[in-house]
Amino acid sequence: MKIKFNQRLFLIIVISCFYVNYASAQHKEVDIQLTATKLTSIALDAKIDSIIKILTLEEKIAMTHAQSKFSTKGVARLGIPEIWMSDGPHGVREEISWDSWSHAEWTNDSITAFPALTALAATFNPELSANYGSSIGEEARYRKKDVLLGPGINIYRTPMNGRNFEYLGEDPYLAATMVVPYIKGVQKNGVAACVKHFALNNQEHWRDKINVELSDRALYEIYLPAFKAAVKEAKVWSIMGAYNKIRGQYACHNELLLNKILKTDWSFDGVVISDWSGAHTTEESAKYGLDIEMGTGTDGLGTSTANHYDNYYLAKPFLKAIKKGVLSEDLLDDKVRRILRLMYRTNLSFNRPLGKLNNKEHHEVALNVATEGIVLLKNEDDFFPIKDDKTITIAVIGENATRVMAPGGGSSELKPQFEISPLEGIKKRFKNAKIIHTMGYSSGPSVYDEVIPTKLDQDSLYVKAIKIAKKADVVLFIGGLNKNHLQDCEGDDREIFQLPYQQEKLINGMHEVNKNIGFLLLTGNAVEMSWLPKTKGVLQTWYLGSMAGEAIAQIISGDKNPSGKLPFSFPKKLKDNAAHFYGETSYPGVNMTQHYKEDILVGYRWFDTKKIAPQYAFGYGLSYTNFKLSDIKTDKNVYSLTDKITVHCTVTNNGNRQGAEVIQVYIGKLNSDVKRALKELKGFKKVFLKSYKKETAKIEINVSDLAFYNEKISDWAVEKGTYSIYVGNASDSISEIIKVTIK
Ligand code: GLC
Repeated sequence: MKIKFNQRLFLIIVISCFYVNYASAQHKEVDIQLTATKLTSIALDAKIDSIIKILTLEEKIAMTHAQSKFSTKGVARLGIPEIWMSDGPHGVREEISWDSWSHAEWTNDSITAFPALTALAATFNPELSANYGSSIGEEARYRKKDVLLGPGINIYRTPMNGRNFEYLGEDPYLAATMVVPYIKGVQKNGVAACVKHFALNNQEHWRDKINVELSDRALYEIYLPAFKAAVKEAKVWSIMGAYNKIRGQYACHNELLLNKILKTDWSFDGVVISDWSGAHTTEESAKYGLDIEMGTGTDGLGTSTANHYDNYYLAKPFLKAIKKGVLSEDLLDDKVRRILRLMYRTNLSFNRPLGKLNNKEHHEVALNVATEGIVLLKNEDDFFPIKDDKTITIAVIGENATRVMAPGGGSSELKPQFEISPLEGIKKRFKNAKIIHTMGYSSGPSVYDEVIPTKLDQDSLYVKAIKIAKKADVVLFIGGLNKNHLQDCEGDDREIFQLPYQQEKLINGMHEVNKNIGFLLLTGNAVEMSWLPKTKGVLQTWYLGSMAGEAIAQIISGDKNPSGKLPFSFPKKLKDNAAHFYGETSYPGVNMTQHYKEDILVGYRWFDTKKIAPQYAFGYGLSYTNFKLSDIKTDKNVYSLTDKITVHCTVTNNGNRQGAEVIQVYIGKLNSDVKRALKELKGFKKVFLKSYKKETAKIEINVSDLAFYNEKISDWAVEKGTYSIYVGNASDSISEIIKVTIK
């Protein structure tokens, strides 16, 4: 086609205008730094949109996937920074190499190891959770991390799950109540929390392939509430997709979970980050809600290929699909918009605090969470507290008395500045008593963390332990599980419910020669307790991090009075647990699919409704003093849907030492039209009382919180009619039941 002169002139003008415009856009100085300290979200969105306009396609693509193990690219020419992430939920992980899982061997990255989140949950103390979050947030900030990959809040469905120690127990209300202050604490440091693993990652066995099938009621009533609270109440800035599939689609790019529930129903405005190697195709990652792809093609859960960052699903293939018009650039812009928003909340924020590391305040917080999290399970003949008397000999027996726990467990591993072992703590505190120690048993070769070397074999360890126990006045057996592979550790589940390493045989043997045995259970999970009659005292002492030994010594000496409550049930036998009642199809699954057949009856909901007595119940924990609940009443008997129910309860400390009790309020619907648990936790309050003092506590519960998820209308609904309000200090220790009516 012949172009006339003036048409050609017009074309030259148009093209040159375009070029000038394009060139200036490329080099236009956009003031990335926020000028105002407080930017309204509308002004921020406008700012973000102005930045997106001047980013090239390649620059936008680069922001949506890893450039290294734990970082994503920024835009150097505009001063847009990289995003640096770090594990984990209990402390800031040591620096990892650029492109391998090996440690970077830095010397400035030792940190405070805080107690595992099961211990935090056991405190039933949201204020402690706020302190925990702000302390770990300060440490992440000081380590220059923009995203802390925690907290983990997957519900405790089976005692075999290797990662339960990282989570907040079996009850959605407890997990929701405890996770909100933690996230707020982290984020006030200008560090994004990354709540994980969204969702239904309730086992480690086949975690990256298993497909979870469950009812909407179980999904909405049990597995989502803690995540919903993280988004709606804590305003979490990022969330990590889980490895598993839900109803056939991977969680890291899932239309129902991410596009509908998270980003539409919950109006989540933050960033969805994949678990490492959790992304599987370009199209699904682009369309179904994934914003940042991490860990693909690494030696983690994928196979490493040369220069694999460019081969990420959201890298070259995504760029190509956009250029070919197969995928819309709007999908990319939405991801970049969320990523920039996360930056303005973190590494682009105007006045981010400076952070702090390894200071005494953090050690104090770790100690408080530890002492308030330890649960006294059994205390026959007032075995605990043990007096520090020069006339007595205490035998401290068990590998866990000296074993370091922080470096194990998988991605939540920590390189603490120090970790006080139980034996160290006991020796430091008991200056008068004679302390003798032997390992008693050995856990053998370890994958994740070093084992204390022993020249003795199992039998000679056993013989030595019996000898030591025989000549002691008190035996403190410090055993349980550990952070080894196939123990309390990421990547797989336990294979036996019983205690490993022949600990039961050792307890039986020691009991032959000494009846005065106390057991300190270092676990993140329930274990079979057939050995219970051979002990007088039992403490559930979790994995307590840097201050472990100090906290344990404070509790066993009586300097501190234990006040922890179990955040999950201890079944007598594994088959008593709901997930194991229905066989392989329920756990661990058959042909890579599992069905949550227990549905909404998880944990104590199962034990209560099926009338199965657990070994120890959710919410249970003893004290060195004794408390009485009395004058329990509600402010009214009849409530409307918009009302709040106020429960009053007086707690009296009838003993001669100060302590704390947790009033728990469970509510159940009588004669419900649908299947419902006998009762569900809807409120709790921890009350601290000096000896012989009393206090009346008030617990408020919204009637709307009594709703169940009605699958017929795909929405929540409150049944009218009669409800029972159960008030007590454990799910199986109820002081009063009050009937109320909802009109
Ligand atoms: C791991 C874990 C996740 C962790 C991530 C990075 O596989 O599942 O919790 O944050 O990869 O280490």
